[in-house]
Amino acid sequence: MKTIDDLGDLRGKRVLVRSDFNVPLDGTTITDDGRIRAALPTLQALLQQGARVVVTAHLGRPKGEPDPTFSLAPVAARLGELLDQPVALASDVVGPSAHATVEGLQDGQIALLENIRFDARETSKDDAARGELADELAALADAFVSDGFGVVHRKQASVFDVAQRLPHAAGTLVRAEVQALRKAVEAPDRPYVVVLGGSKVSDKLGVIANLLTKADKLLIGGGMVFTFLKAQGHEVGASLLEEDQVEAVKGYLAQATERGVEIVLPVDIVAADSFAADAPHETVSADAIPAGKMGLDIGPRSGELFREAILGAKTIAWNGPMGVFEFPAFAEGTRAVAQALVDTDGFSIVGGGDSAAAVRKLGFDEAGFGHISTGGGASLELLEGKTLPGISVLED
Ligand code: 3PG
Repeated sequence: MKTIDDLGDLRGKRVLVRSDFNVPLDGTTITDDGRIRAALPTLQALLQQGARVVVTAHLGRPKGEPDPTFSLAPVAARLGELLDQPVALASDVVGPSAHATVEGLQDGQIALLENIRFDARETSKDDAARGELADELAALADAFVSDGFGVVHRKQASVFDVAQRLPHAAGTLVRAEVQALRKAVEAPDRPYVVVLGGSKVSDKLGVIANLLTKADKLLIGGGMVFTFLKAQGHEVGASLLEEDQVEAVKGYLAQATERGVEIVLPVDIVAADSFAADAPHETVSADAIPAGKMGLDIGPRSGELFREAILGAKTIAWNGPMGVFEFPAFAEGTRAVAQALVDTDGFSIVGGGDSAAAVRKLGFDEAGFGHISTGGGASLELLEGKTLPGISVLED
């Protein structure tokens, strides 16, 4: 992959940067700006070189037409604060406002185009439609820098097609992410332990299948644990359960035994009366969840068990919270895993938007982790061993 330095002297050049500014919002308030902060090194490097920086990004999943709910205006404001310089926001994607805004840039200035998904061609399955939008994006720039790691698994106009039309390079975020995650996939220092959480097994099927050929130990937490417990023959009360995945999970458990991969499940569960921050709750044995109770976190003994496995590992990848960490009463399992990742001597990778947000919400210093990925789906697909279109297009 080429780097920004390979693009030569960028002073006065218009550089289109694809960033991932898909941040969580409460109305127009950004509740976690991690992805914006992660984009800064590339943007600052370009601005310091005197480039005229044009950023394109998406927010949410608008339906291919302008929708003020998904405007990038809050992002432009936050980015301006973090960069300590104004960020001009075009009111359209590639229309008259985008052209006027880009033409108005001086060397070392930056503009943001409105949400790229306001244009239906961005996510079109039709190569010609995406190509047309990519041509229009390319007309706004002299070079392209791909730095939106969170979207490199998407074959979309601003991620894939535009790279085929301009001299291109990977930004520092994409390079750092790919380096850290590929190392875990291709040549992890062992023991290699993977901690998987999150609510759905069905989202993680591909990654579990691949990890059974790569990891030494798989620690399972989060809502998906109940499908594993059910597959082992235990009752799970009113906990989240994907009945239709029970057979698949039985298959994984059998495969793990055959391959000598240890699957570690929680031994205790924090079970609540209902899904609420103040729900009465108790810690119960994982094989004795009372009828009517729902598991909302792994219990303290499980936290200890997971900690031991993490401290004994040389590489640890973590994707998905262990419980409903948004409610303080059910955040301890996630906190225990995060603390073990900070305390281990092994190289730790935190992947997935939720786990990264959990780490920040629980007050951990990001510097304590080996690598915090900004990618949700993208980091999972790399862990699955898939080829990602937004990466391969940079490798030609
Ligand atoms: C993400 O939030 O994982 C990325 O920004 C990709 O968003 P998408 O799933 O809507 O393509």
